[in-house]
Amino acid sequence: MKLWGGRFTKETNQLVHNFNASIGFDQKFYHQDIRGSIAHVTMLAKQGILTDAEKDTIIAGLSGIEKDIENGTLVIDGTQEDIHSFVEANLIARVGEVGKKLHTGRSRNDQVALDMKLYIRDEIAAVDELLLSLLEELHTLMKNNVTTYMPGFTHLQKAQPVTLAHHIGAYFEMFKRDRSRLADTKARLNYCPLGAGALAGTTYPLDREYTASLLDFTGATLNSMDSVSDRDYLIELLSAFSTIMMHLSRFCEEIIIWNSNEYRFITLDDAYSTGSSIMPQKKNPDIAELVRGKTGRVYGALVSILTTMKALPLAYNKDMQEDKELTFDAIDTVKGCLALFTGMISTMTVNNDNMESSAKNGFTNATDAADYLVNHGVPFRDAHGIVGQLVLFCEQKGIALDDMTLEEYKAISPVFEEDIFEAIKMETCVTKRNTLGAPGPAVMEEVIQRNEEYLKNK
Ligand code: ARG
Repeated sequence: MKLWGGRFTKETNQLVHNFNASIGFDQKFYHQDIRGSIAHVTMLAKQGILTDAEKDTIIAGLSGIEKDIENGTLVIDGTQEDIHSFVEANLIARVGEVGKKLHTGRSRNDQVALDMKLYIRDEIAAVDELLLSLLEELHTLMKNNVTTYMPGFTHLQKAQPVTLAHHIGAYFEMFKRDRSRLADTKARLNYCPLGAGALAGTTYPLDREYTASLLDFTGATLNSMDSVSDRDYLIELLSAFSTIMMHLSRFCEEIIIWNSNEYRFITLDDAYSTGSSIMPQKKNPDIAELVRGKTGRVYGALVSILTTMKALPLAYNKDMQEDKELTFDAIDTVKGCLALFTGMISTMTVNNDNMESSAKNGFTNATDAADYLVNHGVPFRDAHGIVGQLVLFCEQKGIALDDMTLEEYKAISPVFEEDIFEAIKMETCVTKRNTLGAPGPAVMEEVIQRNEEYLKNK
């Protein structure tokens, strides 16, 4: 049975039905569809549009449908066009004539807008939980690695020494911003479209604010045409998701590099690595590579929806049905990647010694040698030139600044004294960097403390 068969004289062509149908994917939000319908009839009864008895019968029927879907006795098949029609047809089959009153003062246009918002709200909460778990893991890594020295890079060239806590702390900030982006998205989407009807509201005396409050919305939307055709929140969601994936992909890239034979800064756990079918020695970082790769898929979803929405006239157009599959796929991808990534970094081993010796062998203390000269009255530009000569000297001999003798130092600049060795030691270089946000252990501990507070307040 169709919801809209009345004005038609022919059966729908089967291919048209298949092409038009969305039940294959919108069945994902049967729970939200039923929740919305229960709120709708509760409001209709409050307004005297339905009797209390009618409301109770409809709600009992809807709850029964939900239970039966969940326990597997009611299977969502492809005979109906979408989940809305499926639930309504089932309701009528269960409770009879009164079921036909469910759709009073409602259109599938405002109904689907509501369902999708409810669904996205739930999924935002789920993604936020995963981000929190990742942040907890990063927090632990930071606490354990305040004095794990490693080279900081610019242009992927060793630059200045930092610590692993400091490096991880950069990602902590990124994922913190991701949480706040999702919270913003939720705050802006959190207005209830129900009651907008097909596009122009309805002639029934609905109490839209009441429906909105029953469904935990901040309020009701204020323009019925916008209500049924707004997909901004999906664009915002997919943009926030794309940023999460971009952050994960950067982190994955570093994990892959750190785990390589050349670096060996970390070792990925066997449970999070894969082998080669031909090369027996291989242990590959496939998970990190896959997460990096799946970033493209989420960006694709964002570009897709932007393109679908481009130039669509008001109000609802069927094009908008295309919002679902790509959003659902992006949700699954982001959730999967966050969970896998968190598991991967919580099981990896940090090779402190390799990190530290790499930091020592790359002139990462050259800036500190220049600072030493500046502190002894040499203008910075001259100091820069002098240390440049030191580096050249060391490169020719294949040694580090720390390995030069005082005589060799003095031959290049007489300003150097015995205390140069203390000034360019790894510990000194890091410990002296004590501006807020820098790797020095004292400020690092302060940031870790602030992160601790942040995690406590969720
Ligand atoms: N499946 C449709 C969608 O996702 C539901 C709304 C249908 N509305 C309509 N006027 N055909 O957009």
